[in-house]
Amino acid sequence: MKSIEEYIELINKKLDEYIPENIFPEDIFKAMKYTVTLPGKRLRPIMCLEACKIFGGDYEMALPTACAIEMLHAQTLIHDDLPCMDNDDFRRGRPTNHKVFGEANAVLAGDALLSFAPQIILKYSKDLGPEILIKIMEEYTRYAGAYGVIAGQVADIEAEKNWKNNIFGLKPEELLSFIHTHKTADLFKLSLRSGAIIAGADEEELNKITELGEKLGIAFQISDDILDETSTFEEMGKTLGKDKNSDKLTYVTLYGIDEAKNKLSCILAECCVMISGFERKSAVLIEIIEGIKKRVGI
Ligand code: IPE
Ligand code: IPE
Ligand code: MG
Ligand code: MG
Ligand code: MG
Repeated sequence: MKSIEEYIELINKKLDEYIPENIFPEDIFKAMKYTVTLPGKRLRPIMCLEACKIFGGDYEMALPTACAIEMLHAQTLIHDDLPCMDNDDFRRGRPTNHKVFGEANAVLAGDALLSFAPQIILKYSKDLGPEILIKIMEEYTRYAGAYGVIAGQVADIEAEKNWKNNIFGLKPEELLSFIHTHKTADLFKLSLRSGAIIAGADEEELNKITELGEKLGIAFQISDDILDETSTFEEMGKTLGKDKNSDKLTYVTLYGIDEAKNKLSCILAECCVMISGFERKSAVLIEIIEGIKKRVGI
């Protein structure tokens, strides 16, 4: 059984190994490696490894996929921070990718990661066999693309300053649910589902783990929305208070801090029930939930 700290050490080592530095044109590899290797919580790769374990698989088989998902996550962060998106100067406690490498290289580093990540899966996971590899590629391309994170980010940007106008024909609460499902929960689902697929989980098990990913992802984004108002730069490593200033559609905008915290507590309690229903227990997933609660103070 691995602890969160042991998983993080393993993931960091592999991320460093997978992304080369001294390959021409070096600027692009440096820009890719910069954001990926900055210290993040590594929640998504940990969830991928843990899902593999929950369904009886060997977590080592899921390592390339777990790291690829962290690369995809870093891609979403690099692009999310760009001046044309959230226009942020800090990420993971350091200047954002475009602040260090320039805007063009940051756009290209994100693009490069999007295709580098599945290359890593294909190169290092040959032992999984063609059938599972195709399934993992289906998962990756679905959740990374226009049916996934990108749909959420488009709606998030469109909703900024404009969310009261029933855009896309959705009421604000429906729009918020769409945004959270796609911009955040889709990568949680991708992480858990691919770990489970590598372990050979059946359809019923996959449905359960998908439901958990949806709930946990939504809960995580609610916590991020709350922390944007209540936390500090030192804790979060990014400039806070920006959601309010840019009139973003968030849980806090719609329901206020107290109600957002109540909703978060309820969803996390549901997640704990789901986790305890799996045949193999997961202290790691419970610890992730405790971590969210602790950060928010609930
Ligand atoms: C940030 O995700 C983006 C959101 C979905 C809110 P994390 O808070 O998991 O970022 P890192 O990976 O720890 O930096
Ligand atoms: C992030 O949502 C979602 C993605 C990066 C896809 P936010 O814009 O709230 O994330 P932070 O606060 O910048 O980390
Ligand atoms: Mg954003
Ligand atoms: Mg942002
Ligand atoms: Mg945020």
